[in-house]
Order: sequence, then structure tokens, then C-alpha cells
Amino acid sequence: MVGIYPPVITIDGPSASGKGAVSEFLSNKTGFNYLDSGLLYRLFGLEVLSQGISLSVLADDWSESKRLAECLEAKLVGSPKETKNRSFSQVSINGNGDARTEQAGAFASKIAKMPLVRRALLDLQRSFRARPGLIADGRDMGSVVFPDALLKVFLTASPSCRAERRHKQLKDKGIDVSLVALETSLVDRDYHDSSRRASPLKFLEDSMVIDSTDLDIVQVSYMIEKKMGDLLGEW
Ligand code: CDP
Repeated sequence: MVGIYPPVITIDGPSASGKGAVSEFLSNKTGFNYLDSGLLYRLFGLEVLSQGISLSVLADDWSESKRLAECLEAKLVGSPKETKNRSFSQVSINGNGDARTEQAGAFASKIAKMPLVRRALLDLQRSFRARPGLIADGRDMGSVVFPDALLKVFLTASPSCRAERRHKQLKDKGIDVSLVALETSLVDRDYHDSSRRASPLKFLEDSMVIDSTDLDIVQVSYMIEKKMGDLLGEW
């Protein structure tokens, strides 16, 4: 049933399962806004590094997490009232060191374990919910941030397939990493993301599970779009 708030489609899953590509594809196709929550954690991590904040201070001091979340909010394109199509400019993404590297991902995973950091990013993530709706990608979108989501997807793929995809993505950007090292790093990050106490990545009973090992972006997006159509009718 569609409620009074703009509908949310959550796409959670492990690293490099295709969440970002599928979310962007669906957002372009449907006109829904897009929240890349992993990018928020990556940028938050880069902010911690560039401001020289120690992890022990970050873990215990609520005012630091809150202040850093406000720094991120200030970097969003568009005024705070203009919630539709909120996004970060390329300057923000590449500014303090490229947010898309594996190192930035691994550091994001480290700070994402901290309950205060997660709490500080909650309102910012929820502020992306605007008409006509939102596609939200991450680890805890369906479990914590948008538990009332209209449709919850759990997108996965085999570790070797995910490592190959990420390898290609990085190579296209001129970043050369060994495939074996990449697979080890992804599996390690998945382990930490799934076993942490604060908002772990987990499969939810009410999720639509899609294994994209043998499916491309268009095929996965079609499955989700079809389900959205069943739930929403016209939008
Ligand atoms: O692109 P990839 O799937 O490798 O990572 P990402 O989605 O950019 O997220 C980077 C890291 O941020 C993850 O490994 C998680 O530790 C953390 N994260 C999180 O804890 N919760 C989210 N909703 C999104 C990301």
C-alpha cells in the first residue's frame, strides 16, 4: 500500500553487488531520487582523515559526529529546503582524496561500525526522501533508515563476480589493483559489515532477494521495476 510519504525502494547488499549501478539506472528511468548512502560514509571518513580526528574521539564524542554530518550536509548541492535531487558535486567526491577508492571504502567500513556516526547520518539520509520517491542503496536502508520502505531488495552476487566487477570499475578509472587482493578486501569488508553490532548488513525476511551473478544491470533493474509497478501502479 502506498502511504502519505514518498515511497522508498531500498537496495541493500554486499560490496560491488551492483547496487549503485542498478539504483542509478532505476532513478533515471523512474525519476525517483537517489541516495547512495555508502558515499555518505565514504565522504564522512575522508572528512575524519582530513580534519585529523582520532577514532577514539570519534567513537565517544557525539558532538564531533554531529559536526561532521553538518559539514557533509553543507557540501550537498541544492538548498536544504530543495530536497529533490540532493547530491554531491564531483568536487566534493574527489576533493579530499577520491571517495571511490578501495582504501576510502575500507576506512568507511571502519567508522561505519560506530553507533554515534550512524546516528549522526540518520537525518541526512532521511532528508533524501522526496517526491516522487526514493531509491536508497546501502547496508541498512531497509532495516534501520527506511523500515517502512514500500519495497526492500537484497542484491547479491558471488564474491569472484563482485571482485571482477569492482576490478573493471577501478580499471576504467585508471586505478590498477590486483584482482586477488580486491576479492580478499571485499570479502573482509563484507565480514565486518555483516558481523558488526550497529546496523549490520543482513538479509531481511520481507526482502526481494536477487542474485545478480548471471544478470546484467538492465535485467536486475527490470525485475525491480516490474515489482514497483505491481506495488505502485502508475507513478
Ligand atoms: O561500493 P561498495 O558497495 O563497495 O561500498 P559502499 O556502498 O560505498 O559503502 C562503503 C562502506 O560504507 C561499506 O563497506 C559499509 O561499511 C559502509 N556503509 C554502511 O555501513 N551503511 C550503509 N548504509 C552504506 C555503507
